[in-house]
Amino acid sequence: MGEYHIRLYEDQDHEAVCTIFSNGIQEHAPAGFWHLLRGPQAHLLLLAVFLVAYTISASLLFSCGVVAALLVVGWVYMKGLWAEYVTAALANDLRDIRKTYLEAKDSCFWVVTSQEEVVGMVAAVQPEDPSQRGTALELKRMSVAKPHRGRGLSKALTRTVIRFAQERGYKEVVLGTSMVQVAAQRVYEKMGFRKVNALAPSLLAKLLNFYIFFYRYEIAGSR
Ligand SMILES: CC(C)(COP(=O)(O)OP(=O)(O)OC[C@H]1O[C@@H](n2cnc3c(N)ncnc32)[C@H](O)[C@@H]1OP(=O)(O)O)[C@@H](O)C(=O)NCCC(=O)NCCS
Repeated sequence: MGEYHIRLYEDQDHEAVCTIFSNGIQEHAPAGFWHLLRGPQAHLLLLAVFLVAYTISASLLFSCGVVAALLVVGWVYMKGLWAEYVTAALANDLRDIRKTYLEAKDSCFWVVTSQEEVVGMVAAVQPEDPSQRGTALELKRMSVAKPHRGRGLSKALTRTVIRFAQERGYKEVVLGTSMVQVAAQRVYEKMGFRKVNALAPSLLAKLLNFYIFFYRYEIAGSR
């Protein structure tokens, strides 16, 4: 950690936090797109579109053009989905971080700084799933700016959330992350989180085989 310092969020951190969060989410658009392209559903769709275009036009060039256009539309759509997620978060919990995380019971928001510059963040909050409330806290909004990755910052931030939950008598820390956020999955697994569920966030996501992985960390010695 050396030059790094974890502290509570302050209002002047807002812009940096929103930028790091936004970049950290939107960087997954290419991985999300490749994930879709690798699936049999995408292969079938592209083949069907190619065959229909070729049947209508009898032109290889035209048919390849239609497939290329579909790929462009798919890419724009995929980018839009990740951007939409960011927009929703910025308009909801990240709009007033003090109110959402610092003034609410058993919630918190930390940043990690390097020479006064905010380079990472994480939050603890009551879980979205009502059945987990009272026993678990949810880890959210984990993100580390690219130039500061691979230095153990997310491990330190995760430990901060676990300690916070433990001090308040919670038994578990839970979280959700998408299947293409591979670095995050490695971090949580190395920290002792267990994958307990995988759910598609929508019917379209299910059709496209896109799942959110849910993880749970059991706090040692919890009541
Ligand atoms: C996921 C993320 C927070 C990791 O941050 P980080 O500070 O680089 O992670 P750390 O340096 O603490 O690494 C922790 C462990 O995970 C491993 N790890 C981190 N990134 C990895 C990667 N891309 N591939 C494989 N392992 C990885 C590290 O090797 C390390 O293991 P070690 O203890 O054996 O050395 C960062 O990549 C990020 O901000 N991503 C974009 C936002 C995001 O996806 N957030 C998660 C939301 S749920």
